[in-house]
Amino acid sequence: MIVMQWYCIMKRPRRLRRTSWMRDLVREYAVTPHDLVLPLFVADDEMLQRGGESLPGMDRLSIPQSVARARDAARLGIRAVAVFPVVAASSKDERASGAFDPDGIACRAIAAIAEAGLELGLIADVALDPYTSHGHDGLVERGDVVNDPTVSALCRMAVLLASAGADVVAPSDMMDGRVGRIRRALDRSGHQDVAILSYAAKSASSFYGPFRHAMGSERAEGSLDKRTYQLDPGNSSEALREARLDIAEGADIIMIKPALHGLDILRRVRDELDVPMFGYHVSGEYAMLCAAADRGLLDWKSALHETLLVVKRAGADAIVTYAALEAAADLARPSHAPRARPS
Ligand code: PBG
Repeated sequence: MIVMQWYCIMKRPRRLRRTSWMRDLVREYAVTPHDLVLPLFVADDEMLQRGGESLPGMDRLSIPQSVARARDAARLGIRAVAVFPVVAASSKDERASGAFDPDGIACRAIAAIAEAGLELGLIADVALDPYTSHGHDGLVERGDVVNDPTVSALCRMAVLLASAGADVVAPSDMMDGRVGRIRRALDRSGHQDVAILSYAAKSASSFYGPFRHAMGSERAEGSLDKRTYQLDPGNSSEALREARLDIAEGADIIMIKPALHGLDILRRVRDELDVPMFGYHVSGEYAMLCAAADRGLLDWKSALHETLLVVKRAGADAIVTYAALEAAADLARPSHAPRARPS
């Protein structure tokens, strides 16, 4: 009688981790400079002079400096910059009038970068907060951020930014119905090819502090409550519903924000919806990394690259990050690039 020996072969997953060449071969996700979007804070003269300390990558730029920064980004393989205007308090008002000025800092910066003819895309933020004295993303009437009048304002703004040369407009305001109306406004004004990157799932997060500081809306920051329009951080199905709505209204790409505090949402959207998606590694997430590294608590470079990698692993196609230039420069020189042969 033949006795069949039943082998229980021990599985050894560590075989795939023994050598760096094998780890490289079996790695599932990677970040390249093509996955990165660099934010640029373009400031008017008054805000440039005001200066003040800021995080690296979040400093206020003049228009020529922003063109130079965009050129550096293009050279490193970064495929888009996102322009945020920094406006002096003296130019802000209740009605966000500055948002509709074709000679405002945002339009002039976009025109200047477009003029430079760089090999990268120009993303223009569409929200009223840089221009409102109260710091809200929309118009306020009787203490309420009013939806439909805000959407009309955003449509005007989007058309203006597209006319200045933006390739992509990015409504970051979280009003209802704005994607559809912006799409119609763009189409009617001959901007059929301008894409919409909509902040579909943007949480009312505590991690936007350094951004508001860079924008000069820190005065309002403490009292600024955006919970009547931004998502409750306790909700993920609602994030999915928002994403579906924006896609139905014509969003080309959706943004999930914050990215690190929304890794689960990135993954759910990736699994359930068929749409390009970016993750925004927001200012507070970036600042925590800087602060911990400054105190010697963690290694800056490896923590940064791991952060970007996990956002990619969660499902993001691209990542908006203040560390885009530095990360792209690192990625451009791989750690195992062939070394010169010793003579
Ligand atoms: C507002 C806007 C915010 C950010 C981008 N656009 C802040 C807010 O909602 O108050 C935050 C980005 C960051 O923290 O890096 N339109």
